[in-house]
Amino acid sequence: MVKVGIIGLGTVGEAVVKNLEKNREIIKARAGKEIKVIKGVIREPNKYTHLNIPLSTDYKDVTRNPEIDIVVELIGGVDKAFEIVSDALKHKKAVVTANKALLAYHRFELQKLASTPFEYEASVAGGIPVIKALRDGLSANHILEIKGIINGTCNYILSEMKKGRDYKEVLKEAQEKGYAEADPTFDVGGFDAAHKLLILASIAYNIDAKPEDILIEGIENINLTDIEFAKEFGYEIKLLGIAKKRDSEIELRVHPTLIKQQEMISKVEGVMNAVSVIGDVVGETMYYGPGAGGDATASAVISDIVEIARGNSNPMLGFKIPLEIEKCTLIKPDNIVSKYYLRIAVKDELGVLEKIAHILAQNNISIESFLQKPRDGYVKLLFSTHKAVEKDIKKAIKTIEKLNFVIKPINYIRIEE
Ligand code: HSE
Repeated sequence: MVKVGIIGLGTVGEAVVKNLEKNREIIKARAGKEIKVIKGVIREPNKYTHLNIPLSTDYKDVTRNPEIDIVVELIGGVDKAFEIVSDALKHKKAVVTANKALLAYHRFELQKLASTPFEYEASVAGGIPVIKALRDGLSANHILEIKGIINGTCNYILSEMKKGRDYKEVLKEAQEKGYAEADPTFDVGGFDAAHKLLILASIAYNIDAKPEDILIEGIENINLTDIEFAKEFGYEIKLLGIAKKRDSEIELRVHPTLIKQQEMISKVEGVMNAVSVIGDVVGETMYYGPGAGGDATASAVISDIVEIARGNSNPMLGFKIPLEIEKCTLIKPDNIVSKYYLRIAVKDELGVLEKIAHILAQNNISIESFLQKPRDGYVKLLFSTHKAVEKDIKKAIKTIEKLNFVIKPINYIRIEE
């Protein structure tokens, strides 16, 4: 029998207990052993008597419990979770976690500390087994590109905004449905997606980067005009996590992105997640499924427990030895190259367009398409550009925003083709 202790019995923890019980026979057959939760750790044990497992308020009752084989960490957050998981590893427990923020900051330290199995399938894209796909199924490949819709809350909001609904109203709904993080700025600001992208990038490229090192932008400035433009020019707007390999340089970024309507990833709607991975041997592969919710996440957590119970031992981040010859470096956010969409609100005056076009040209930015939308008392100018360098776009925007006929901060969205 494999004995499990769970630290954190919120929506996911409860779903793990429930589904281990519900699918006990098939899980036992697959693991080759019975799996039993023998202890739970929770702040308020009186609330959880219905779970029918012994409870404690002290995590050490699990991490240092000689009877327990696998510690499942489901409390979220960074510092306390790091203390708990480190303690479990020091006491030679196998660890399963769903904690993306913990891994975004500490995955390489934890890998060093782990002499026992360490699994984290639920940390990226909830119920989709994308970690195992990337780490195991695609191990023959150089990963050329990853593109993911890896935050269900943002995808839900953007999908609903297409129906003409208001951003704030839809965000509130996503919170009520339990998709959003405790602090929803993690979702709408792109940080949750960035945590997940960093985990995938470590497996793909053995690269250690922290959230502060990469470009992260959220969906807060997207409005209905942008959605109208997207429709008119055959695009969808999605919050994407993007990783790209250019020789030995790696580009990592999270931002709202205009992508062509005919791409498969454009068709992913609502709270669903999808990850497209291009390998140099296999070509494009795609993974789709529920990225949030108790049962979906529990499905991934239990798969990790089964993996450990079987006695399989995977290298935590997919590399048995460091990648020396092909060591990858991170491209600075300012040097990223992309096509851009710009939304500029201006007074309807003589010479406005000429001045803007001149500043774009001075900064090596070539215009691809243009649309002018008259509004009450002002006009919206919508441009798409050919490929340009991020720092040139930022400089041009700053210069244009200083012109006295520009009446609002400029909004921009990167275009991925
Ligand atoms: N808040 C996350 C999301 C939950 O919306 O995708 C899963 O990590």
